[in-house]
Amino acid sequence: MIMLQRRYRILLILTLLTLFTSCGVKHNPVPNVHIDYDVEGGIALEPIPDSGEDDDIAQPPTYRDTIFDILEQNCLLCHGNGSRFGNWKKYRAVAKKSEIIYQRVVVQKNMPPGGALSPLELEQFEAWYQADSPY
Ligand code: HEC
Repeated sequence: MIMLQRRYRILLILTLLTLFTSCGVKHNPVPNVHIDYDVEGGIALEPIPDSGEDDDIAQPPTYRDTIFDILEQNCLLCHGNGSRFGNWKKYRAVAKKSEIIYQRVVVQKNMPPGGALSPLELEQFEAWYQADSPY
C-alpha cells in the first residue's frame, strides 16, 4: 500500500513538473509555429503542440466521469437496490466502502466474480482510490 502511494506521488510530481515546464507552450500566442531565432550562439525554440495528455494524467479519474460507468457495467447487476451484498448505486455508499471495494476489485481481483476488470479499468480504479475517491 505504501509503495503504491509512493508510486502515485512520484507520478503526480512528474506530472506537475511536466505541466510546469509546458507552461510557456500553453501561453504562446502563436502555437504550433516553428520559431527559429538564428542568433549567434544558436537558440532555436520549437514549441510542442499541447496534446492534452498532461491533463489526463494530472486529474485522477472521478466517480462522475469514470467510476460510475465501471460500477454500472460490472457491479450493479448484483449490487443494486436491495442487494444483500452492498448497494453500489450511490456515490456516498461507494465512497464509504471504497477501502473494501478497492481490496476486492484491485487487490484480490475477485469482484466482479470470475472476471477481473480490464487493465485500464483496474488502473483507473486504483488511481481513483489513491486520490481519496473523488466525486
Ligand atoms: C454476479 C454478481 C456480482 C457481481 C457482478 C459483483 N458482485 Fe460483488 N459480491 C457479490 C456477492 C454474492 C458478494 C457476497 C459474497 C462475497 O463477499 O464474496 C459480493 C461481495 C462484494 C463485496 C464485499 C462486501 C462486504 O461488505 O464485505 C464488495 C466490496 C463487492 N462485492 C464489490 C463489487 C464490485 C465493486 C463489483 C463490480 C466491479 C462487484 N462486486 C460485482 C456478487 C457480485
